[in-house]
Amino acid sequence: MTCIGLGKIILLGEHAVVYGFPALAAALDRGVTMAAVPTPAGGSLRLDIPAWSLKILASDDHPVSRALLAITDSLGVGRPTVTLVGDAQIPHSAGLGSSAALAVAVSRAMLSHAKRKLDAKEIAAAASASEALMHGRASGVDVALAQAGGIGVYRKATGLRSFASAPLRVLVGPSGAPRTTSAMVDKVADATSASPDDKRLRALGALTDTGTNALLAKDLAGLGASMNKAHEILAGLGVSTDQLDSLCDAARSTGAHGAKLTGAGGGGAVIAIAPRERENAILTEWKNAGVTGFVATVGGGA
Ligand code: PMV
Repeated sequence: MTCIGLGKIILLGEHAVVYGFPALAAALDRGVTMAAVPTPAGGSLRLDIPAWSLKILASDDHPVSRALLAITDSLGVGRPTVTLVGDAQIPHSAGLGSSAALAVAVSRAMLSHAKRKLDAKEIAAAASASEALMHGRASGVDVALAQAGGIGVYRKATGLRSFASAPLRVLVGPSGAPRTTSAMVDKVADATSASPDDKRLRALGALTDTGTNALLAKDLAGLGASMNKAHEILAGLGVSTDQLDSLCDAARSTGAHGAKLTGAGGGGAVIAIAPRERENAILTEWKNAGVTGFVATVGGGA
């Protein structure tokens, strides 16, 4: 059986979500797919994702091997002689939740191979154990979306509250500059003394509320304005880059309602919301800057 974990974008609230504030996030319509197939030659548990040029043994000294073992230990499935064969429709290290998508897909594939029920709590626990190794202080927003799909407001304390919304078209621009989430989370911890009382973290949380209300009222200009403000605050915290700033500026000056970095920053991806007739022009501007963007439709169900 082929199993999936979905990628995600954070529309508002990244970094602040680590300190208990809400984040507005949505699953992408793509992610990582995985199937566990017996390895005829025997040997160690393996993982092979040609799309990411990733080929590892569980016994390797590699971060993904350690994440894989954290998953199998959490699920209690042992280390069967199988190859996890995966495909990826999102880039890795791009702020699109690839590691959580991978962890959820692997967890589902391992349970399926063991002929066990795909229990959501067990999958969440296993994927979270993997994320804790990969990212340190992960809020859990990536795992929640990779598993549940849809769109919603996530808080560490209460998890994901999904809601129905009109389908929302989001332009996604993977910058191609890799970064590590944990380094960016540490940077924000330094800048804010890791205090939930920091006024920039509080402002990011408040923008999640304002932007979510705008989205629910179908006020895309209002959502875009919240995104622009959030980008400015994130830049002030030191997690933007010249490239991300200029991709956002290009989107805004080409007619976007709003644009911002998404995810941890320091590289990774930007997102923009724009009137339908401006989308192609924005993608062309990004292309001229060396970035191949795409339009993802998120939300729906209303
Ligand atoms: O860049 P990503 O996809 O790893 O997203 C990180 C989001 C943060 O809020 C920065 C960290 C977290 O765990 O919520």
